[in-house]
Amino acid sequence: MAKKSAPKSNSFSRAQSDAWFERAQKRIPGGVNSPVRACRSVNGKPIFFEKASGAHFTDVDGNVFVDFCMSWGPLILGHSDRDVVAEVQEAATRGLSYGACHPGETAMAEAILEAFPPFEQVRLTSSGTEAVMTALRLARGATGRPLIVKFEGGYHGHSDGLLVKAGSGLITGAEPGAEASSQGIPHEIAGLTISLPFGNLAEVEKLFAFHGARIAAIILEPLPANNGLLVQSNEFLAGLRRITAEHGSLLIFDEVISGFRLRFGGYGAIAGVQPDLVTLGKIVGGGMPIGAVVGPQKLLSLLAPVGPVYQAGTLSGNPVSIAAGLKTLEKLKNPEVYAHIAALGERLEKKLKAAKIPWLRVRRVGSIVWPYFVEGPLPTRADDISPKAIERYNAMYNAVLDAGVYMPPSAYEVMFLSLAHAEGHVDQLADALIAAAKGVA
Ligand SMILES: Cc1ncc(COP(=O)(O)O)c(C=O)c1O
Repeated sequence: MAKKSAPKSNSFSRAQSDAWFERAQKRIPGGVNSPVRACRSVNGKPIFFEKASGAHFTDVDGNVFVDFCMSWGPLILGHSDRDVVAEVQEAATRGLSYGACHPGETAMAEAILEAFPPFEQVRLTSSGTEAVMTALRLARGATGRPLIVKFEGGYHGHSDGLLVKAGSGLITGAEPGAEASSQGIPHEIAGLTISLPFGNLAEVEKLFAFHGARIAAIILEPLPANNGLLVQSNEFLAGLRRITAEHGSLLIFDEVISGFRLRFGGYGAIAGVQPDLVTLGKIVGGGMPIGAVVGPQKLLSLLAPVGPVYQAGTLSGNPVSIAAGLKTLEKLKNPEVYAHIAALGERLEKKLKAAKIPWLRVRRVGSIVWPYFVEGPLPTRADDISPKAIERYNAMYNAVLDAGVYMPPSAYEVMFLSLAHAEGHVDQLADALIAAAKGVA
């Protein structure tokens, strides 16, 4: 534990964080390098952190928080897992970047492919955004078609063509454009992306009936976790598989969050649906920057230098990222990791239920937990999310923070449980939520 233990009241100081925020805003737009960190939707200010270990986050004022954001998903083993850090340190002594081939790249491709049968090849990138950009370029290159279909509330990184009714950062922050969810994206580019509501196969059928011959791919998170946790039925996913196959389009599962999160592999195998391509990121880098496109050789071999679809990256296959990722994947082969984090999720649900506040509940799949604070049906599409649930999360956020619990600073984001969390941490979260809930209508 750090200097001060997790605070139980709102009396602790944030003077240093506030000073850093003042200074940051002068030199960094909004003081942040990714918009949701600005904490605007929860009526807060960013906290500046100094270190993190296990389940704990320590800020520049010395306050300690139990972290349930976990860097938005990569840290399935918790912060600074000792074995991962040892691999990173060792790799760093052998070079921070080669910009050339090394054995770790092949070891990483092999480790990923073991978990994603029957795929045959992997191209590594430095972020999930790049992995998705590459997958879409591959789909267009393979089919010779221009259009991409995505779903409302799905987030696939910040590339031009995918900021069309995209995820939470846009809902809570950015200025909407005429068609895109961001200014700076030409109509011509936004117009190549068609965004449909989740869960409605009839709409997809209708679209393909008109435009099927021009659609290169459907891309979606098979377990959408960027705009709440909008769990889709297996029938819906299977329907997308059927429709894309009928029309010669590709089905891309963006598993940047779900890859290795619920099992050693992807969500497609849980749903019983085999996509044409999978994109990965987050967990496969063990907390270091990474992305990956995974698929059959017939598609991946369209990439340069073998084929005509160009893609490249100075830091792609970075040896330090790969060291962190390989050790993380090795540790995830132990099924007890998944059992532990799912059991913590169950404990959280039980504790909240025992409080007998009917609306105080979470939508959970394994270790992915979305606080959804209203009674009634759980939403499966973005426009079904109740504004009341968002209002309550925002109203409670700072009280929970003051109780030493760091949740994602947006009601649309999910929390992540990790191997480093213990029952006591989950109890602290539950207690903080229950206490905060008593203060809101
Ligand atoms: C499903 C999904 N795809 C793509 C991305 C983009 O990944 P990155 O932030 O590494 O560029 C994210 C990021 O949250 C994501 O959740």
